[in-house]
Amino acid sequence: MCGIVAYLGEKEAQPLLLHGLRRLEYRGYDSSGIAVVDRRGRLHVVKRKGRISELERVLGSCPLTGTLGISHTRWATHGIPSDANAHPHCDQSGRLALVHNGVIENYQNLRQKLLDLGHSFQSETDTEILAHLIGHYYDQLPEGDPDRLENAVRAALKEVIGTYGIAVIHADHPDLLIGARRGSPLILGIGLGEYFLSSDVTAVCVGAQKVVYLNDGDIVTIGRHSFHISSLLRDSVGFELSELELSEASAELGDYPHYMLKEIFEQPQAIRNAFRGRLDPEEGTAKLGGLHMSPHELLAIRRILIVGCGTARHAGIVGEYLLESLAHIPVEVDYASEFRYRNAPIDEKAILIAVSQSGETADTLAAIREAKRRGLRVLGICNRVGSSVARETDGGVYMHAGPEIGVAATKSFVSQILIFVLLALLLGRLRYLSVGQGRAILEAIERLPDQVDEILQKAGLIQEMAQRYKEVRGFLFLGRQYQLGVALEGALKMKEITYIQAEGHPAAELKHGILALVDENTPTVFLCPRDGVYEKNLSNLQEIKARRGSVIAIATEGDTQIAKLADDVIYVPEAPEFLLPILTVVPLQLLAYYIAVALGRDVDKPRNLAKSVTVE
Ligand code: M6R
Repeated sequence: MCGIVAYLGEKEAQPLLLHGLRRLEYRGYDSSGIAVVDRRGRLHVVKRKGRISELERVLGSCPLTGTLGISHTRWATHGIPSDANAHPHCDQSGRLALVHNGVIENYQNLRQKLLDLGHSFQSETDTEILAHLIGHYYDQLPEGDPDRLENAVRAALKEVIGTYGIAVIHADHPDLLIGARRGSPLILGIGLGEYFLSSDVTAVCVGAQKVVYLNDGDIVTIGRHSFHISSLLRDSVGFELSELELSEASAELGDYPHYMLKEIFEQPQAIRNAFRGRLDPEEGTAKLGGLHMSPHELLAIRRILIVGCGTARHAGIVGEYLLESLAHIPVEVDYASEFRYRNAPIDEKAILIAVSQSGETADTLAAIREAKRRGLRVLGICNRVGSSVARETDGGVYMHAGPEIGVAATKSFVSQILIFVLLALLLGRLRYLSVGQGRAILEAIERLPDQVDEILQKAGLIQEMAQRYKEVRGFLFLGRQYQLGVALEGALKMKEITYIQAEGHPAAELKHGILALVDENTPTVFLCPRDGVYEKNLSNLQEIKARRGSVIAIATEGDTQIAKLADDVIYVPEAPEFLLPILTVVPLQLLAYYIAVALGRDVDKPRNLAKSVTVE
């Protein structure tokens, strides 16, 4: 939530900052802004409500020059989207500027303290309070202090309760950029004679070759030729330089009209990436070295708790069925936000698996910390290398799905499910599955990318279908067992990007109240591939038809029976039922996408949302 990009180097800052902001726009798009210190030591700030294109329009006619700058794209927390509430914010002197991602929880107290000191504010934001607080300490420190700005930042942050990723510049220090983080991500990008700070690596790949994923409590002080990292929490600070693996091209839209469509079509590759190097045909099992667990430790697991938010939790629900049926381990899935405050009974033979594409979701991180506090071993399934989830867990599995930029998660869902398949296979082979069964699963996994490709060929058909369903009042999504998580995910995709009311339920719940919603204007998307509950699903489907509800069925190729009952059918190839979610979700993503496009929605940046939810 909110995106930060800052630059100090030899090049003009503005174009690099704007380029970075465009990359981060998915993190928030209520307003954006930029501050640059020019060669004569003057600070210039320009900020605008609305999309980055609005800021670019203003800067186009009056560019800012200077090689030191900070910028921000905002997802509003405190204060409505407006020019005044947009970042950067300045201190009382107007010489210090700051951008911030996070929430300052004690800002009301700090505000009162500063008001008492004679400060006045231009915005309703918590961020402006922090800028003034740093400015206040800066004024207190002696002019000769060589670390005056860093010390002012340090003093102010010691008073702050809440979360932050910040970048700070000052007109009196044209060769100095300061960053700090606690609870919100911040990455230092290092190029040739230049440095970047950013909330996300996608914004720095234009110039950086190496990155440092800053830790909570870190303060980084960047000069023109060097940087140093200290910590608010620890005495000594070590850091790791990582190669930037992300290419500039992987974050580009290419020929696609939207990132979401691009990412839907990248799913065959995402699946290959998730299983590459992890299949062991000899033993009929999976190799997941990142778990850092011996066979003995894996065998000792008696219970698994899965936490995540949104799509990641839906993948966890599919994971629950997978782990229980292939590995016979009891599983419980929870909203990360609920687990964090729920006093769930746990024991030392349980592990917690946190699922997160971004690896930065605040609720998921809070759940991880709570589980660790209680002594649980915590594993992560995440996409972003070096993210907080990756760093705070005891082990885990990377998805390697590549950047997912559309706010609606797509390829991350199929990658997460595939990783649960691998995990269930590994744990199952240590328990009940024979080598032959394991090998059959591996063969079925290897067929998945081509099978997803086959479904993607039906995009034209689904686009045409979308035209017929775009005016409906609401959608129901129904599925059982492995398809329950898919039904929930289908409903989330639909509401998130089309703004049409959509609900996902276990199909058998229909008669317990949901049937009341069925009418001519509320179609049901029914997930009924040939699986263990197929016949039951057909009965439920008839119940909908009997109430004049229309049905779009997602069914297995060759199923002629379903074509007689449903109004529309989208077929998926045959696969073992525990792999079917990876196939059946694809038509639902495409249906939501094409309806959203038909309704003229902003598919990649739906209203009120942001990709990475870094506030609780
Ligand atoms: O980055 P995460 O996987 O932790 O994100 C979790 C949710 O915020 C995310 O899945 C959200 O629900 C998506 N917008 C759904 O499309």
